[in-house]
Amino acid sequence: MCGIVGYVGKQQVAPILLDGLARLEYRGYDSAGIACMENGAIQVYKAKGRLQTLSDLVQGGQAVRSTLGIGHTRWATHGKPSDENSHPHLSQHGRFAIVHNGIIENYSEIKNALLAAGMTFASETDSEVIANLLEQNYTGDLLRAVKATVDALEGSYALGIVCRDHPDRFVAVRHASPLIVGLSDDGNFVASDIPAILAYTRTIYHLGEGEIVELTGDAVRVFNSDLEPVIKQAEEVTWDVKSAEKDGYDYFMEKEIMEQPRALHDTISARINDHGQIVLDGVHLTRQDIEGFRRIYIVACGSAYHVGMVGKYIIEKTTRIPVEVDLASEFRYRDPIVDEKTLMIIISQSGETADTLAALREGKARGARILSIVNVVGSSIANESDDVLYTWAGPEIAVATTKAYSTQLSMMYLIALYMAEKLERIEKEELRSLLASLMQLPELVQQVITRTKPQIMALAKQFHQVEHAYYLGRNVDYAVAMEASLKLKEVSYVHSEAYAAGELKHGTISLIEDGTLVVAMAGCHRVVEKTVSNIQEVKARGATVIVVTTEDNTGVERVSDHVIYLPKVKEMFLPSVEVVPMQMLGFYMAKERGCDVDKPRNLAKSVTVE
Ligand code: G6P
Repeated sequence: MCGIVGYVGKQQVAPILLDGLARLEYRGYDSAGIACMENGAIQVYKAKGRLQTLSDLVQGGQAVRSTLGIGHTRWATHGKPSDENSHPHLSQHGRFAIVHNGIIENYSEIKNALLAAGMTFASETDSEVIANLLEQNYTGDLLRAVKATVDALEGSYALGIVCRDHPDRFVAVRHASPLIVGLSDDGNFVASDIPAILAYTRTIYHLGEGEIVELTGDAVRVFNSDLEPVIKQAEEVTWDVKSAEKDGYDYFMEKEIMEQPRALHDTISARINDHGQIVLDGVHLTRQDIEGFRRIYIVACGSAYHVGMVGKYIIEKTTRIPVEVDLASEFRYRDPIVDEKTLMIIISQSGETADTLAALREGKARGARILSIVNVVGSSIANESDDVLYTWAGPEIAVATTKAYSTQLSMMYLIALYMAEKLERIEKEELRSLLASLMQLPELVQQVITRTKPQIMALAKQFHQVEHAYYLGRNVDYAVAMEASLKLKEVSYVHSEAYAAGELKHGTISLIEDGTLVVAMAGCHRVVEKTVSNIQEVKARGATVIVVTTEDNTGVERVSDHVIYLPKVKEMFLPSVEVVPMQMLGFYMAKERGCDVDKPRNLAKSVTVE
């Protein structure tokens, strides 16, 4: 999500850090900072806003006389974009400076313990606890202090650490968040991503899970999490900067599809504590509040609206509160029936979509309580909501959303279960079992990617010249069909439509003829036989049918030309596994057709006009 770069060597460090951060700006750009060792003390320079603001502050780095430092460009997760929340963070007495990429799940526990021990904090971030914990654990041995500190952390992190008492070296460590080491005759580097250092070296190695690295200008030592030395094999990077930004993928959309297990893990696992309870930071809805809601509106645009469609099915099922889902552009002008007994759930990746923001204001003016699901911290929608749940998908660059959609879905599950639990409408055992499955979702999505990718690529090769496609499904399968169809049309320009499977025969079936491509989402057990009947209807008119279902539904083979099998999953979470091969189908079809996948014609990532 954020970007990290660090250097120690013969060169002046600040220009190198700024240059590295500039190459990482695509990873996050709401603030940036550097910490450099200057005359025996750590000096921190940081500023909210684009990197240029920081660069101006330090005259392009020339103002900082130092050869050792760490830098960071931030994509906010905990705490709004501000000078104080920018990295690096200093420990209370200025002995340590840290930069952090990732999420510390147990930061409030650690923070409370440190506060009780008399430590003070300057920011709202989860990351600052690391600096103070280092200070507390330090007894003169830098590596031991790092080990003791990371042993106490839960979550994901890549860290750069500078200590005033060791002015010739810095330390970096990683867990579930990538970090690489770069080697050169002029000095040594760490970075969260290869592009940051490609201008200086192509000789790198990837740090393994839990590995700790200590860098000086002429030596690099790597240790495992028990501080035992590890021998690393350096590799030469052959990528250019453009493909390095995409982790070696050809397109951001592809990279973002592949990143979904990580994004889901970050978004979900921090919201379920060690006792198996849902902890929704930023949501202050009490049982009494929830009992008072007569209805829920879910309002959004584009793919976020399709998340809302899933939300309607699952929230109604788990809470028995009536849910209406509406397009923001429609909601705002239809005199909606909203009052203080209404909960409005607003979904938006950017937090800036004009219609969604206007709908929020319309609802708020009529007295609704506003709960938003947003990816961009500090965005307008987040700022104007009563309760905010952030998806921690990280910056999404491809116009067609994938990882933001998936993390929004996971938030929907959590909200539904949170409300059901508060209302005591779900058995404790069932909740425990659902949450255990939800924790497995990132792993399951990874399996789906690995297992279905070759088949989807082959299908895209076979069908990329079609002119029309129809997606069918019932219940949540219908909601996924809507998103699947949008994914295909927006990036590949194949005309496609999604229909509730039972509705097709009321008109649209007249368009089905020999060879028409139909994709049927048929994972939802309760209605699968009904969907199969609808598949038979199109098959009888000559359609070529791809069926997407779970591996226990082998019965569908008799009505399909191709079956994409998915691992079995609880019905509530089905959309999360079904959508992934459909995102890939859209992507590979577009690639086969030679489309500009990341920037489809006529589209914008954030639509700030009506
Ligand atoms: C644009 C994007 C879509 C997105 C929609 C809503 O159309 O291309 O991917 O779903 O806007 O954007 P939001 O930022 O509010 O989620």
